[in-house]
Amino acid sequence: MANVRDDETAPAGRGATTEPAGTSPDLLRLRGVDVTLGGTDVLSGLSLSVGAGEFVSVIGPSGCGKSTLLRVAAGLTAPTSGSVERATDNIGFVFQDPTLMPWRTVARNVRLLGELAGTERKRLRAEAAQAIETVGLAEFADRLPRELSGGMRMRASLARSLVLRPDLFLFDEPFGALDEITREQLNLVLMGLFRARSFGGLFVTHSVEEAVFLSTRVVVLSPRPGRLLADIPVTFGFPRALDLRYTPAFAALAGRVAGLLEGAL
Ligand SMILES: Nc1ncnc2c1ncn2[C@@H]1O[C@H](COP(=O)(O)OP(=O)(O)OP(=O)(O)O)[C@@H](O)[C@H]1O
Ligand SMILES: [Mg+2]
Repeated sequence: MANVRDDETAPAGRGATTEPAGTSPDLLRLRGVDVTLGGTDVLSGLSLSVGAGEFVSVIGPSGCGKSTLLRVAAGLTAPTSGSVERATDNIGFVFQDPTLMPWRTVARNVRLLGELAGTERKRLRAEAAQAIETVGLAEFADRLPRELSGGMRMRASLARSLVLRPDLFLFDEPFGALDEITREQLNLVLMGLFRARSFGGLFVTHSVEEAVFLSTRVVVLSPRPGRLLADIPVTFGFPRALDLRYTPAFAALAGRVAGLLEGAL
């Protein structure tokens, strides 16, 4: 495993971002969360916080409880013990499967959550158009999901979640099913969104490279029941270009995360 410089290993608790330290209030705070489902211990003693302007990736072996962690964060699953505090109800959730409605065009899919929330029609149209533009789908706004590639469907899914301008964004391996080039493009789209909207992000991925590239912190979980093995600040500034991944500092940090994961298996 490669060594990393001191400033990358310092247990700062919170990664240095372009924001001054200590200015971002926590949007989400889990303290000592245990989850037992059907007699199976899924998460154990998990403490984790996400502040505004923080993008936190969660990486861990398959079945270690990552999706459960997102469900707990969203309030869809109650912890068996421990506490979950949310400073906002405005939470976006992006799943691995884009789950678009097949009979609705991209624009009408993107407007769906706003319609359900009762957003005023004119404002919703403007928000949806802007979200579609932001993810690079403007030319396809009137197409049906079946007329789109997998990557375009994921862009539409992202746009749909953007419409309500969430403060906290939860992502469950959104790019896991995509080819590498599409995944790289969408990493850049997502980073642009993160920069422009400065939401708090909790991002589950299987990819060490994606985790380090996108994040201000990377959280490594143990095999089930998921425990926190490390909470590592990623101090590269923003915006980040794809070729950051070929620098020695990036390789060192990715190597450290990969080493923690391998050691945990
Ligand atoms: N409702 C449930 N009842 C019993 N066990 C459950 C339930 N939901 C999840 N589990 C178990 O909890 C564990 C963690 O599941 P979870 O889906 O959170 O893992 P994950 O880390 O997201 O996995 P993957 O990487 O494969 O997506 C699994 O062993 C699963 O079988
Ligand atoms: Mg999962």
